[in-house]
Order: sequence, then structure tokens, then C-alpha cells
Amino acid sequence: PGGIRINPSILAADFVNMQADLARISTADFVHVDVMDNHFVPNLTFGPQMVGRIQATSPVPLDVHLMIDDPGRWAPEYAELGAASVTFHLEAATEPVTLARRLRAIGARAGIAVKPATAVEGLFDLLDEVDQILVMTVEPGFGGQSFMPETMPKLRRLADEARRRGSAVWLQVDGGIGESTIAQAAEAGADTFVAGSAVFGAGDPDAAITALRATASR
Ligand code: DX5
Ligand code: ZN
Repeated sequence: PGGIRINPSILAADFVNMQADLARISTADFVHVDVMDNHFVPNLTFGPQMVGRIQATSPVPLDVHLMIDDPGRWAPEYAELGAASVTFHLEAATEPVTLARRLRAIGARAGIAVKPATAVEGLFDLLDEVDQILVMTVEPGFGGQSFMPETMPKLRRLADEARRRGSAVWLQVDGGIGESTIAQAAEAGADTFVAGSAVFGAGDPDAAITALRATASR
């Protein structure tokens, strides 16, 4: 129940034609915004100033994915500028519960992400504290990488536990999601799908979103 969500990642968009690229994904559920600090991951994108402009410009609400150290210092700012959801990494957070509560208090959905090698069992007791959990299906840092099917068993364990607890949490996957991989992630329990190259690499991004939605729903 609850349906599925397709969140295109603007990491694959044209950074100097962002407004035009945002207009090409009007059928998306959320715009996935990858913030990287060159410390938590070996790549650098943008910070609050750029995300504030995207927030002001995008017809679709923002799903911010923070791949940064010290998220306690920075994450609230993204909630305050109006992002619908703010996701930080478990590996980078010193006080994940405190931070999740703070994001919710500001009015954002709180999300926690885990890298491919991080176990999901540590998230079980946080299920009531967050609105979404992101299971990375590539090593975070770059778009265009290959989906890692070895992450599916832990996604399945997380989905089973969420179901057992009657949790309303959204389970998100990010990395290498496209026509050939989205069905297996959906089958393992994901309901929210981030796709960068599969959407912006297509001639018609909105048509690609529609096709991904159909494949995930089958
Ligand atoms: C990777 C980012 C992803 C990335 C996905 O670290 O978190 O959101 O944009 O890109 P694709 O869909 O091309 O793998
Ligand atoms: Zn991402």
C-alpha cells in the first residue's frame, strides 16, 4: 500500500540549465538533491545557497540527500529552507535520533541513509524516529554507477522488520536504478526510487519517469 515514488536525481542534470531541467521532470514525486562535501564522499556538489534556489524554482518538492560529515551542523538548514525531506547518513551522524527529531520539528520528513556495507539492523530501533530510510545501491559519490544486487538481502530484512512493526516508513533506493534494476528493488521492498542517469539521460525525462513507475508497479 501507499504507492511508489520516482525521485529523479539532479546530479545528472545540467547544473547551468537547472531551471529548464527541472521543468522536464514535472511528473516526478520529488526532486532528489545530492549534497556532497568532498569529505564524506570524494566528490563536491553544492550547498544551501544552490539548494535554496532549486527550492524556489522547482515545481516538485525537494528530497535532499546529504552526503556530508557533521550533518548535525548542516541538515536543519535544508529543512528550514523548505525541503520536503532531508536525509543524512547514519555513518556520519553522532546523534541520529536527536537530529531526526529536529528535522521533524522544523517540518521536514526525516531520513537516514546507509552505504552498501552498513548493516540495517542498527536502524531497527530508529524506525519510529524517521520517515524514510535510504539504502544505497552504489557507493555514494557519483552518478552512473552499476546497481549492487548484493544490497537486496538487507533491504528485504529492513522491509520485513518495518512491516512487522507496522511502520509507515518509506524505503528508498539510490544508485544504478533504471529499467533493468527497478523491479528487483521493488520486489525486495523499496517504494521510493532515485534515478539520475536513467531519467536525465533519456530523451524525454518525463516519459522515462512514467516508464519506471510502470515497471516498479508491475
Ligand atoms: C550517488 C547519488 C545518487 C546519484 C544516482 O552518490 O546519491 O543520487 O545521483 O545516480 P544514478 O541514478 O545515475 O546511479
Ligand atoms: Zn542520492
